[in-house]
Amino acid sequence: MNYDVAIGMLGCGTVGSGVARLLQEKQNLYAQRVQAVPGLARVLVRDLARERPGIPAELLTLDPADVLEDPEIQIVIEVMGGIEPAREYILQALRAGKHVVTANKALIARHGLELFEAAAESGVALHFEAAVAGGIPIIQTLKRSLVANQVDAIYGIINGTTNYILSAMTEAGSDFQAVLREAQAQGFAESDPTDDIEGFDAAYKLAILAGLIFDQRIDMQQIHRVGIQRISAEDIAYARRFGYVIKLLAIARRTEHGMEARVNPTMIPQDHPLASVNGVYNALLVNGDAVGELMFYGRGAGQMPTASSIVGDVLNLVAELDAPPNVLMSSPLPATAAVLSPAERVMNRYYIRLQTHDKPGVLGQIGALLGQEEISIHTLVQTKNNPGEAELVLISHPVSELRLRQAVAQIRQLESVREIDSIIRVEDFRFH
Ligand SMILES: NC(=O)c1ccc[n+]([C@@H]2O[C@H](COP(=O)([O-])OP(=O)(O)OC[C@H]3O[C@@H](n4cnc5c(N)ncnc54)[C@H](OP(=O)(O)O)[C@@H]3O)[C@@H](O)[C@H]2O)c1
Repeated sequence: MNYDVAIGMLGCGTVGSGVARLLQEKQNLYAQRVQAVPGLARVLVRDLARERPGIPAELLTLDPADVLEDPEIQIVIEVMGGIEPAREYILQALRAGKHVVTANKALIARHGLELFEAAAESGVALHFEAAVAGGIPIIQTLKRSLVANQVDAIYGIINGTTNYILSAMTEAGSDFQAVLREAQAQGFAESDPTDDIEGFDAAYKLAILAGLIFDQRIDMQQIHRVGIQRISAEDIAYARRFGYVIKLLAIARRTEHGMEARVNPTMIPQDHPLASVNGVYNALLVNGDAVGELMFYGRGAGQMPTASSIVGDVLNLVAELDAPPNVLMSSPLPATAAVLSPAERVMNRYYIRLQTHDKPGVLGQIGALLGQEEISIHTLVQTKNNPGEAELVLISHPVSELRLRQAVAQIRQLESVREIDSIIRVEDFRFH
């Protein structure tokens, strides 16, 4: 391959082969746009024998030094995934004065400080558009296009697997486990789906987004995280009855109690734009103080959407190779992490579903315990599914999570309460 700017790539799986395809097929277009031809010079893989259509065999290597120590290579793309050795290889590349583009959200969320410091020391850039929401251009948008704003809130559906599962549960009325098995069979969920269904993947991405909008470093441990594994077909049916859908929402926003960042299943009004984001699609609603509300929608993963973001980063670097480092695109992160508002202080409405014995006075007892914590009820439904038993579903008015937890702990002690099945936040998209 002929090129002006030599690119080294670490990994050539799903995303890497998409990147290689774009760089080959659109060479002329890119040359016209950035006035230089970027091309793959070396590609690190684990297995030389694996079929890689379109990748010339002479580019492949098993030795990372062929990429990291080649002085000709100016830009390194990391699409291996995982923490080690990706972290070590990126550090080596940055220290060798190479710009790096990565799609690795876990690595940026957990080791961003170390990596950005290494980039700053060497005067090179570390770009990561593909790490959040795959093909949706949200990182450059926040860093460059929205730089004039204070962004007050981001609400995101940023994990395709959980959105696929919740959408399928909503459509078919099926239970979580059945839909998860089907999603795994169709390749929409990993065989070990923990990272997705327990909200870790969304939390990595949210840590990156929250860091950008708060101009602070976000410690993953501080992100309040609840997965979707306890959402049932019953909850989804009640949500529909009350005019809501359930989504795994990643939220970063400024509140009167401070900065908040959390990932949790959330009931959102059926007529809200995020409610119609279904299947593996992702979306982000951004609220900037000057621009107002913006919404981004698209494919949050997949070979070519992710490659689109990576090659976009590469071309931006190529266009600015001879310029001094762009301060907007470097990410100086404070060594100390931001202090986020504890979840207990955040005000929300809540949906609660519980099973009780069907006896007189049960409702009164529950109402009294809620009243003690100044929790008032917005909606209440009682159904009798089995003799002697009743299901109680209520939606509260706004209450702090602390008060809610205290009330729930007391309700759980009641002899007449058999089980509290679900507690789900209800989002009204208002600032508190
Ligand atoms: N897939 C998506 O839709 C998507 C979306 C957004 C972000 N991402 C991120 O993009 C990255 C890559 O994802 P992917 O789906 O392309 O993964 P993948 O298909 O598993 O590909 C990983 C590649 O890295 C190589 N590799 C892994 N460990 C290596 C090691 N120790 N030494 C040398 N080569 C190694 C593998 O080599 P072999 O080919 O020889 O096995 C393979 O080519 C991850 O960080 C992921 O989170 C992916």
